[in-house]
Amino acid sequence: MSTNKTAAIRKAVFPVAGLGTRFLPATKAQPKEMMPVVDKPLIQYAVEEAYAAGVRHMIFVTGRNKRAIEDHFDTAYELETELEAAGKDQLLSLVRSLQPDDMHLSYVRQPRSLGLGHAVLCAEHLVGGEPFAVLLADDLMVGPPGGAPVLTQMVQAFERCRASVLAVQEVPQDQVRRYGIVAGDRVDARLIKVRDIVEKPSVEAAPSRMAVAGRYILTPGVFEQIRNQPRGVGGEIQLTDGIARLMQSEAVYALQYEGKRYDCGSKDGFLQATVELALAHPEVGAGFRSYIRSLEL
Ligand code: G1P
Repeated sequence: MSTNKTAAIRKAVFPVAGLGTRFLPATKAQPKEMMPVVDKPLIQYAVEEAYAAGVRHMIFVTGRNKRAIEDHFDTAYELETELEAAGKDQLLSLVRSLQPDDMHLSYVRQPRSLGLGHAVLCAEHLVGGEPFAVLLADDLMVGPPGGAPVLTQMVQAFERCRASVLAVQEVPQDQVRRYGIVAGDRVDARLIKVRDIVEKPSVEAAPSRMAVAGRYILTPGVFEQIRNQPRGVGGEIQLTDGIARLMQSEAVYALQYEGKRYDCGSKDGFLQATVELALAHPEVGAGFRSYIRSLEL
């Protein structure tokens, strides 16, 4: 299907069925993944990051009330006709740039909220037997200035080690309970061979402060593990547990990525992303900077 046959990772799974309860009431009638940071919805940042890494088949694991995501990446016939008639060529190409000809989209529903592992398992028949990426759109990832985006860094790491790669970052001790936490042996300055991974441990039980961010490259063997594993933390079928089981038969690596992560599932992270991306925005950045400076803080 993909025209980008040479890419190491051709498919990406976007679990987008979550209810977004941390962001109510904003997410009552719209998907949290459609909340815009400056001028783009969160899901678009994640899709663009995947496309930049060579991925051409985007697989969304969606749920009820998520139709806006499908519409966002579909042809907007009326809008495009109007823009064309009005000669608004720049806006027209902006709208059309959302769906490059070589990008393929699939949607599958996760009928019940059984956890992230279960969401990924819902995409198994679309992924098939090849390594694939998982991107959590809540985590908005920005690569280092002038450097490669985070998923691109991970694909490069995958090409080196030909095994699953998890994006990780160090977090303060009091935050370990919010994440999947890994421990392992250093391969080089950024790469770790994972020995241990645990979902949302207590401060006492955490094997390190190295937290999994919402980017994964996984080998297809993980499906079998998820299918057969017991429920984990919170009674959910956890992706982390599937990875822990996978490690018994395959190597798994963690990449300390370069760049920045904004937890846009939380109000704080969303606001930080909004301010920082606005300051860096080519159109509104300069004006916004002088506005911020004018505030008496
Ligand atoms: C999920 C994963 C967790 C990971 C986190 C990254 O948790 O289960 O291992 O560290 O994403 O954002 P959630 O944020 O869905 O609770």
